Amino acid sequence: MRILIISDIHSNMAVFEAEEFDACLCAGDVVDYGCDPSEVVDWVQENAAACVRGNHDHAVGQKVRPRGGPGPRHLAFATRPLHWQRMSDDQLKWLSQLPTSQFIELDGKQFYLVHGTPRDPLEEYLGPKQADWQQRLKNIDADFVCVGHTHQPYLLELDNGTTVVNPGSVGQPRNLDPRAAYAIYENGTVTLKQVEYAIKDAIASYRTAGLPDDVCELALQTLTDGGLRL
Ligand SMILES: [Fe+2]
Repeated sequence: MRILIISDIHSNMAVFEAEEFDACLCAGDVVDYGCDPSEVVDWVQENAAACVRGNHDHAVGQKVRPRGGPGPRHLAFATRPLHWQRMSDDQLKWLSQLPTSQFIELDGKQFYLVHGTPRDPLEEYLGPKQADWQQRLKNIDADFVCVGHTHQPYLLELDNGTTVVNPGSVGQPRNLDPRAAYAIYENGTVTLKQVEYAIKDAIASYRTAGLPDDVCELALQTLTDGGLRL
């Protein structure tokens, strides 16, 4: 069984190109930052066997006004109102009702999905730190723990046999590599992948949406550099 593991799509429809899979798992942040929220939600609803809520899904679904600020905060500030125009009430409700964590059994393996960590499912950033993950997952029995939020891909094998999978961000990478990041599970093994996609289509969507020049420029810089070079 081939399982596509994705996270942090962030309303970027341009990333969905050919990748064969039997099932898809999504670790949250379906929306915000990009311009295609409605299409991306449709895709996830149709293709994901399980999806958990990210902090940005929560904010969009709950109509939280963005605070603004530099870099990604400015992108959220500019694009969140567009989400409220472009998404249906049902889609906003779906975002609001996504679980914050979920177990699912596939291919005889137990998968556990959470956007951040079990300690703080929406907000905690945790990199590939063995001791911290062992502690966070003390009460979680799973073969694979799929997380997101950091936009940095990593695989971490814990001493108890659990593998923590952070596929990175498929639609808004921040590891200074502009390619779409994701992971593939096959035959009990997970592999991290990065593929090129039509970044120009993603950037064009900001212009088509009529967003201001500085926002289009910020999107161009972020997506072509794979995160801001601060
Ligand atoms: Fe994110």
